[in-house]
Amino acid sequence: MRNLLPFLVLIAVASAFGNIQTQFDGPDEVELRLLEPAVVPDPVDGVSRWWYTPSRKAHIYRHKYPKNIQAQPRQGEDLRLPGDVLPRLYNVRLLPFIEVGNWTTDGYVEIFLDCIISTVNISMNSLDLTIDPASITVTEEQTGNPISVVDFIDEQSTREIITIQVSRPLTAGKQYKITMKFISILNALLAGFYRSSYVENGVTKYLAVTQFEATDARRSFPCFDEPTMKANFTVTVGRKETWTSVSNMPLITTEPIVGMPGFVWDNYQTSVTMSSYLVAFMVSEFIGIPAEPGLSNVEFSIWARPEARNLTDYARNIGPRILEFFESYYNIDYPLPKQDMAAIPDFAAGAMENWGLITYREEYLLIDPNRATARAVQLAAVVSAHELAHQWFGNLVTMDWWNALWLNEGFASYMEYIGTDAVEPDFKMNDQFIIENLQYVFGIDALETSRPINIEVNTPAEINSMFDAISYEKGSCVIRMCADIIGLETFQRGLTRYLSDNAYGNAGQDNLWAALQTQADSENVILPATVKEIMDTWTFKMGFPYVTVNRNYQTGGAVVIQNRFLLRKSNDTTDPTVYQWWLPLTYTSDYTQTKRRDWLSVDEFSKSLPNLGAAANQWVIFNVDQQNYYRVAYDPTNYGLIRDQLIADHQRVSANNRAQLLDDAFNLALTELIPYADALDLTLYLKYEREYVPWHAVLSELNYVDIMLYNFAEFSNWKTHMTSLVEPYYNFIGFQETQSDPHLTKYCRIDAMNWACRLGVADCVQNSLSTYATLMSQPDNLAQIVSPNEKSTILRTAIEYGGQAEYDFAFNQYKTKSDTSFLVAMCASKQATVLSGLLEMLLDPTSGILRLDVNTVFNNVANNPIGNEIALDFLINRWDDIQNALGSVYFATWYRYVCTRQNTQAGLDKLIQLRDAHSVILGNSNSVKQGIQTVESNIQWVSLNLGEIGTWLAGNQPAKTISNVIRH
Ligand code: BES
Ligand code: ZN
Repeated sequence: MRNLLPFLVLIAVASAFGNIQTQFDGPDEVELRLLEPAVVPDPVDGVSRWWYTPSRKAHIYRHKYPKNIQAQPRQGEDLRLPGDVLPRLYNVRLLPFIEVGNWTTDGYVEIFLDCIISTVNISMNSLDLTIDPASITVTEEQTGNPISVVDFIDEQSTREIITIQVSRPLTAGKQYKITMKFISILNALLAGFYRSSYVENGVTKYLAVTQFEATDARRSFPCFDEPTMKANFTVTVGRKETWTSVSNMPLITTEPIVGMPGFVWDNYQTSVTMSSYLVAFMVSEFIGIPAEPGLSNVEFSIWARPEARNLTDYARNIGPRILEFFESYYNIDYPLPKQDMAAIPDFAAGAMENWGLITYREEYLLIDPNRATARAVQLAAVVSAHELAHQWFGNLVTMDWWNALWLNEGFASYMEYIGTDAVEPDFKMNDQFIIENLQYVFGIDALETSRPINIEVNTPAEINSMFDAISYEKGSCVIRMCADIIGLETFQRGLTRYLSDNAYGNAGQDNLWAALQTQADSENVILPATVKEIMDTWTFKMGFPYVTVNRNYQTGGAVVIQNRFLLRKSNDTTDPTVYQWWLPLTYTSDYTQTKRRDWLSVDEFSKSLPNLGAAANQWVIFNVDQQNYYRVAYDPTNYGLIRDQLIADHQRVSANNRAQLLDDAFNLALTELIPYADALDLTLYLKYEREYVPWHAVLSELNYVDIMLYNFAEFSNWKTHMTSLVEPYYNFIGFQETQSDPHLTKYCRIDAMNWACRLGVADCVQNSLSTYATLMSQPDNLAQIVSPNEKSTILRTAIEYGGQAEYDFAFNQYKTKSDTSFLVAMCASKQATVLSGLLEMLLDPTSGILRLDVNTVFNNVANNPIGNEIALDFLINRWDDIQNALGSVYFATWYRYVCTRQNTQAGLDKLIQLRDAHSVILGNSNSVKQGIQTVESNIQWVSLNLGEIGTWLAGNQPAKTISNVIRH
């Protein structure tokens, strides 16, 4: 046991780091945290641009932007390690003091190095560590001869690098050992070795846990923090006797810490060879609960706060089953003797795949079967499947640099569907892929501000910006397309080849393409170009195409054309990229034969297909089951044939393609590539549609039309049309949820109820009101009375159609139970006085609305069609009062919220005036720019489409008028 004195001396030095950068100083960072639509700093030129992320995945994306984003990416600095020495083994010993007023960690590390190129400078990563220069030793391993250290160059604050200079050059081919002592601080940044807390029986408890990806291992101990610099890690952590610790590998021994009664060292087994970002450990008062026995050969436990013990059953069951599934899917055994999964109270990401110790946000691991929504359960399964998929793809084989992060994340985002499907077939994950991932990311990748999947990144800020929908969702789509091109089984065998060829090493995307190519060749899969040639077009170009299909009804053929699909076109002509792709064409007229295949090559703008195999009166659908990453636009005749087929018997078209047809048509109409009439024609069949995926796809598109028409005379016919479609769906699904409902039926009901109640369908409104009345009489039986899936619609509808009593009850529940869904429901009131009252309460600290919920209230009032103008006027008229009560942090975000529904010139004028009146706060904000652009395109949309849609609606009113609709 080494002397603790230097440690005490170092505490004084460490406190110099006391003012660790606090969260968010600039207004843009605040916006970033508040906005649900994601704002992502541009990784290439450092200019902060934005992406508007449609809200479908807001529930996942909200946390994607960790609090420690660097304000200034430090371009141009050399941040890479030279690679002339490489680590082989680390012995890391850490003793964290987990108590208020201390938070220091006493650290000691031994690093065993191979010298590759002779050098006197040993550089490694380190950040916010107080290193004791006097403690540094360098020894030649074989001889044990010390080499004296002549200098210690500390560039932690600029390059996150320290350099140890030695008196004589290290020799290439020889091994060396470096040791040093250091102090770190358990920070509150949720990065490195950090502190987290929770309340148990009124007492705040603390724990220390790691989050190293992407570049924060260096905050915990000096290390070679690059993904290719793999090594073995032997971890030793100190803890109070009564606490527990856990790390990547199994615990071997526990021994007392000499001189510190009540404290012990936990010695962990040396890890397999792995990247530094996968190292993990945790010191806490958590309990580890073994998974259900017999489900896996690997020892599997769930770690959580003792009070959360009863919430671990779901994870205890699916975790080991997913692990077993992946062993058979990859055809490679899980290499560690154990797997732990831990639920962490404060966690920046959603979950983290540390090898053998996966960490989660609590809500993604801990499930209360009585209170969890169907979506929460699905998310828990999906997150586990995602992180377990990484244990092979990511951990066993790691991308060679962060430019290829998509290999890790895109692949895991693909496998999460397959892994979840294996243990929860009722979730029908593979049906959900296109709405959750593909159609979702289309909305982002159709903007000029998108980026290619694989781009150069250097700084930590640039690296962190890669964890976005392009790496995850687009990555998963491109992999799914690749699997479809070469065949699912060939693809699976190709993966096994890739993983075994590169096990414990690193690989780039070319290695993956090569393994898939070899496999495809060996199985005689015929392709028009190499896998690499095809896939490079999808990974190195941003965006995606739409294919125009113009059929020739005389010849039976068609001309197909590829063009980039853009939601908005700027006049920026400086981009030299030719936006054409290797484009796999698949098409069918009946789904009975094997699907037809052809290709547009990267050099072909258009091509004639001589024979589609369809008669002139038969429809043809391209991109079968939306396996590929493009949209399709048809000629009017083919749209007519498809519309007629859907009305006659929509089941003749696959559910994926029905969803695709609707999503494509509305997006093509939005960008003026097809008439709105063609898109609206496709909705006529929806009165027969009963499936979740097509409905969910179209509702997100119809929502925009609904928002735009709200204040125009056309809204009345629109509402009638929508009701004629939604009411049969709602009637089929019914209001009452039952235990035996399939998973997707619950999802259907959420959508059907949401729209039925919004449209005022009587059965939905009355059932909501009576359920709410029951709740008012037994407020403590919420879980028994209201299904968690239906809760938000029921509460909202009760406020919308109820009176003062319903409102008062909601406010009371919010205040006494801290249940924000009641507060959100209150914002759905249709009474202007209630809504302005709610906004006024935001300015009054004694109103009962918590500061924490201020943003939620404003957002929901602004989203309310009645509240939108009220919110804008509030912002204009009460600016100073808002500033006095809440400061300036909300202004830009609130401005953006208001813009979504604004679509008139008068509104735009007001908004511009507001911006100019407060140019210091609003002038340079990206949210404000984004908001104004949104209003401009809304205005343009109205001027282009209102007339056409109005005419279509007038000509397509349902035969019988719907009488059972409640009007306000
Ligand atoms: N490797 C990531 C965690 C991560 C994210 C680390 C961002 C550093 C920065 C992990 O595998 C992951 O992707 N987690 C997801 C959960 C999910 C999509 C199922 C997350 O954090 O959102
Ligand atoms: Zn991941």
